[in-house]
Amino acid sequence: MAVTNGNGTKVEEQDESEIVLSVRDVTVAIDDKLILDKLSLDIKRGEILGFVGASGAGKSVLLRTILGLLRKQSGTIKLFGVNVDKASDIERLRIDMRLGVLFQHGALFSALTVQENVQVPMREYLDLPKKLMDELALLKIELVGLPPDAAQKFPSELSGGMIKRAALARALALDPDIVFLDEPTSGLDPISAAEFDELVVKLRDTMDLTVYMVTHDLDTLFTACDHVAVLGKKKVLVEGTIDDMLKSEEPWVKSYFRGKRARQLDLAARA
Ligand SMILES: Nc1ncnc2c1ncn2[C@@H]1O[C@H](COP(=O)(O)OP(=O)(O)O)[C@@H](O)[C@H]1O
Ligand SMILES: [Mg+2]
Repeated sequence: MAVTNGNGTKVEEQDESEIVLSVRDVTVAIDDKLILDKLSLDIKRGEILGFVGASGAGKSVLLRTILGLLRKQSGTIKLFGVNVDKASDIERLRIDMRLGVLFQHGALFSALTVQENVQVPMREYLDLPKKLMDELALLKIELVGLPPDAAQKFPSELSGGMIKRAALARALALDPDIVFLDEPTSGLDPISAAEFDELVVKLRDTMDLTVYMVTHDLDTLFTACDHVAVLGKKKVLVEGTIDDMLKSEEPWVKSYFRGKRARQLDLAARA
């Protein structure tokens, strides 16, 4: 919405209800080592945000901080308009139920079947009869494009692509409003990775999901993400559309998006 400020110039005013996640001036240090320094980032409803940055830059640390698993030294995090530091226990629980997470490591519990894995969040937050949970889990399994017989399989019996889909089914178990995916396609072959990206876009379109995706995958950034944020120097260095990234003169962004690998991708896309 465009409004006019006191100086008579038009400014874009963000509709608060459309901002699912707002991170303001967040500082995180681990063992006295500064990892994030007054970092700010917003994600709008229905957006697929691609969050990139060098390995070890702090992408997973930010994610864990947003999820409340790591303590921040200062700054504000709002989820669905609620300042998480001021949320009551019940408010925090309501927020947690609206978040789905696919962590970078340890995607599934190896001793549980796919169906039992998908039911973990249901058992944690809901009190449902087993039959209903079984039906709900099967729905989620179908939603992510797995065959029904995958439900009774253990992670060791699945391909890498199927494991990621099963982990996504678990992240979707409670019908979240936003899902956090930490490098979901790393380790997948390019075809499985592209299929996973397609699935994420389809779910966003059909479920009104917001997606926060940490990724190293240039293909993903080009095909699936509406918005890109680059982590560097302990904060968001640059953010915008892929076009903005391609125009950026920031050295890391330039070498990442216009380096040798990026050019190869571009050539492959034209072939
Ligand atoms: N639990 C931890 N204890 C100590 N240092 C950590 C911990 N988690 C992350 N770090 C450090 O924080 C920095 C950022 O890590 P991380 O967020 O995992 O990077 P990435 O951007 O690759 O996800 C790294 O220097 C890492 O060593
Ligand atoms: Mg990481």
